[in-house]
This record gives sequence, structure tokens and C-alpha cells, in this order.
Amino acid sequence: QDALRLGVAGLGTVGASVIRLVQEHGKHLAVRCRRPIEIVAVAARDKTRDRGVDLSGYAWYDDALTLAHSNSIDVLVELIGGEDGPAEAAVRAALTSGKHVVTANKALLAKHGMEFAKLAEANGVSLNFEAAIAGGIPIVKTLRESMAGNSVTRVSGILNGTCNYILTRMEREGLSFEECLREAQRLGYAEADPTFDIEGNDTAHKLALLTSLAFGCQTSVDSIYLEGITEITTADIEAADELGYRIKLLGIAQRTDTGIEQRVHPTMVPKSSAIARIDGVLNAVAVEADYLGEVVLVGPGAGGNATASSVVADIADIARGDLMPTMGRPATELEPYTRARM
Ligand code: NDP
Ligand code: HSE
Repeated sequence: QDALRLGVAGLGTVGASVIRLVQEHGKHLAVRCRRPIEIVAVAARDKTRDRGVDLSGYAWYDDALTLAHSNSIDVLVELIGGEDGPAEAAVRAALTSGKHVVTANKALLAKHGMEFAKLAEANGVSLNFEAAIAGGIPIVKTLRESMAGNSVTRVSGILNGTCNYILTRMEREGLSFEECLREAQRLGYAEADPTFDIEGNDTAHKLALLTSLAFGCQTSVDSIYLEGITEITTADIEAADELGYRIKLLGIAQRTDTGIEQRVHPTMVPKSSAIARIDGVLNAVAVEADYLGEVVLVGPGAGGNATASSVVADIADIARGDLMPTMGRPATELEPYTRARM
């Protein structure tokens, strides 16, 4: 079969790891997908920057939109970030011109996901986003595929690696909030604008997508009660500790009699609970469903390699011809969102 041709837009933390993974595991990916997967073109702003990977065999584009329009690619892999701007323009152009899209960009999807899902379905292409929720954890596949026969009642968890990393190091090592945030940035966990992490917006973007996947409804970030971790001090962490608790930033969505309740806030969890032991950059997602019961997935929620693992899983699905509707059911059949009275 002909190779699946990729154009990778964005060569930062995640983009460089995706290139490395495809270069290192290309042969066994081709066997698994029964089709070669080839990067043919890349796009970023600065051509001179060393990204620690060999880009010599790929066509270079200075901007993602031109790459998205190129007929030399079958799939646009969007790893730029941002809810509008170049990412939005490139994804829209790729879907409109009948190209598959793989993205890790939860901010983009929380804002434009419904529209883009309809566009993808109208053009017979995939819009895959496993990496957009909880980094390396395969929660999109779990909800979309493995749990297709269930009715989900609740989805919750630690959805931001940066915040969990900060809270863990503040508690375990007594480091300041600012020191921990700087380290999370250095390690490539934080968003380009880290206020999205620490003020809870990133968790809210992921929760909106989880709500859509889990409950088959449209997303609405504006309906989420939102509180980040910027007000949490070492004194708060110590007080919680004395009472037998740890503080975690949780995202929670549940079906109630009056609609779907969605909230993001720091939460005191008993030290004896499983969620209290999720440390550092790890995330955890718990799903409760009628037939399956409860399932909890734990793994790295941020970082180049873990995120690349999810991006490449989405690419592999496209190579196999697995055309899954973006939100697990046709976008035109998603229910309207009804906000629970809290
Ligand atoms: P980075 O900031 O490290 O990389 C962004 C890249 O986008 C840079 O290479 C930049 O180019 C490039 N870029 C900016 N503007 C353009 C443009 N107009 N055309 C082409 N390329 C452009 O981000 P990350 O790799 O950390 O994140 C990428 C996406 O993945 C984001 O949506 C993020 O939310 C998501 N994500 C990140 C995770 C992580 O752990 N980092 C985990 C899960 C998801 P240049 O390098 O030349 O400046
Ligand atoms: N900034 C995000 C986090 C990246 O820390 O969880 C993964 O989505």
C-alpha cells in the first residue's frame, strides 16, 4: 500500500518527540499498520533552531497554513497550540481540503471541536486527539471504543501534569510555587502560557472534551466551575497534611437529575485514597459506567515522549483506515449540553 504521508506542524516539545518516535519505530509501525508511515514535510517558525532531531529529509514550511494546503500530505499533525491563530487556520484548511488531522491541542478543540468534528465528517476524514487529554493516557480510545457499550455516569481525575507536579514538589520538598512552576516549564510540561495550567483552564479544556466523549453531548467550557491552584500556599498543604489529606487539582463531570455538572478546583483527598498517591507529572482518569463499573487509568500526563506516544497512536489508526467519529458518535447526533443546577 502507498505510504501515509504526514506533515508535522510545530517542532517544539511534542513535535520533536513525534519526529523521533516515527524515525525510531517507523519499521514496526509499518508492520502493525500494514502500511508505511512517512513524514514528508514539517513546519515551524525558526528554521535555524536545533531541535535535536534530523529534519534533513523533509520539506520545510515557515508556516503551518501553507503546509496544510500542500497536496504532498495526507495528514496534518498539528502540534503548535493555541485556540485560534495559526493552529486554527491550519486545521480548518486541512479538514476543508480533505486531509486527516491529528492534534494535541485541547484549547483549540474546546473552542472549535464541534465545528471541526462536523467538518471532518462532512469531508470523510478523521480528526483524532488522543494526546489532548491527559498526555500519554489512552482515555479517548477507552471512551470512544472500549466503553462504547456503556452509559457513563461520572468522569473525573487529575488532568494537568504541571499542577500535579507543582503540588507534589511543594508538599514533598517544601519548594516554592514559583520554583516548581519554573521546573515544570524547563521539563516541557507547561503550556506556552503557563497561566492556562495553574489557573485551571487547561484542565477545563480537557474536561469539556471528556464530557463530550463520555456523555455524548456538545462541549461548553464556559459552563465549567473553575478554580486553579494559584492561591494554594505551603501553609494550606501543611494544614491538609495534618488533617490526613493531600491537595489535588481535580476535574469532575457527572450526570445528575438536572443535567451535567462540571467543575475544576483544588480538592482535599484522603491520604489513603488512590488519587492521593498520583504524584508528579502523572495524571489519573476515573470513569464510572453502568456495565463496566469503575475503571481508572494512570500515566504520564505531559512531556514530549508520552504525548508523542498518543499522537502516533492516532496516526496509526488513520494508517489502518480506522475512521472513528471525532467524539465517538456523529457530531450531528451529539445532544445539547444541559448544565446541572448546583
Ligand atoms: P511548544 O511551544 O514547545 O512548540 C510549539 C511549536 O509550534 C514550536 O515549534 C513553534 O515553532 C511552532 N509554531 C508556532 N507558530 C507556528 C506557525 N505559525 N507555523 C508553524 N509552526 C509554528 O509546544 P508543545 O510542543 O509543548 O505543545 C504543542 C501542543 O501540544 C499544544 O497544543 C499543547 O497544549 C499540546 N500538548 C503539550 C504537551 C506537553 O507536555 N508539552 C502534552 C499534551 C499536549 P518554533 O519552534 O520555530 O518557535
Ligand atoms: N500543560 C499540560 C499539562 C500539557 O501540564 O498537563 C499536557 O496536556
